[in-house]
Amino acid sequence: MPQIELNNASYSYRVGEGQTVRALRGVSFSVEKGEFVALTGMNGSGKSTLAKLLNGLFTPSAGDVLIEGINTRDEERTFDIRRKAGMVFQNPDNQMVATVIEDDVAFGPENVGIPREEIVERVDWALEAVGMSEFRKRSASKLSGGQKQRVAIAGVLAMKPDIIIFDESTSMLDPEGRAEIMEVAKKLNATGITVISITHNMDEAAQADRIIVLRKGRLVLDGTPKEVFASPEVEACGLALPPATELARMLTERGFAFSETVTDEDGLVEGICAQLN
Ligand SMILES: Nc1ncnc2c1ncn2[C@@H]1O[C@H](COP(=O)(O)OP(=O)(O)O)[C@@H](O)[C@H]1O
Ligand SMILES: [Mg+2]
Repeated sequence: MPQIELNNASYSYRVGEGQTVRALRGVSFSVEKGEFVALTGMNGSGKSTLAKLLNGLFTPSAGDVLIEGINTRDEERTFDIRRKAGMVFQNPDNQMVATVIEDDVAFGPENVGIPREEIVERVDWALEAVGMSEFRKRSASKLSGGQKQRVAIAGVLAMKPDIIIFDESTSMLDPEGRAEIMEVAKKLNATGITVISITHNMDEAAQADRIIVLRKGRLVLDGTPKEVFASPEVEACGLALPPATELARMLTERGFAFSETVTDEDGLVEGICAQLN
């Protein structure tokens, strides 16, 4: 059984009388436990709506979303689904609920009545996992954006999720902050947590096992970074290729022949060196 399964899932927002916005249209895909999936597409293509379907915040207007076999329509299981699929959002400042970092991380488990000793263990473990243990007694207000996002991730981890969804969680950060978050996401993924990373940054998407591209609420591409970047449809989806991929394309037009699609700088260097020998 896949961990995440969407069968023809659609979602419409009601806006005013009888008016709807069709944000997702018949989306189907499945994700196995432990995958690292990048979800991308232009603004308004439906990414955040899809994220909310995945953690049961929304139920589809048509079709089904199953998380570990549980249909998100099953209201008795709503809490289970929210706990299984944690979300990290875009703005680190909007995610802090307490001033002291360890209190912030403890907030989720406290809310669901986890016993005190276990909360302490979870907070220790979660702060360690994101490399923020030494900051535990400090105030969140003095942290960098990347550090705040790491605390937000720790708060999600303290709920022991099986899936973490990042909704453009690096987009407000400087390059250093972005790199910190990608590193944490990869480390968590290596422990078996499924990662769904919503991003406009193609260098980040290139690091995923798989990229799903939405366009106007439809799934238009689903494949490895090499497959997706090789597709002529990428540009039609309004996506800028990673700089290394772009450069390889330009070199190809000038007579270079790359044996496979370039997705990052290492691939570009290898591809060029192979032709210089
Ligand atoms: N709360 C809302 N009410 C009405 N329409 C919305 C709402 N949120 C999003 N939409 C619309 O749904 C579509 C998909 O939005 P969204 O999922 O936020 O896309 P993305 O995250 O890819 O930018 C867009 O057309 C957007 O305008
Ligand atoms: Mg969005």
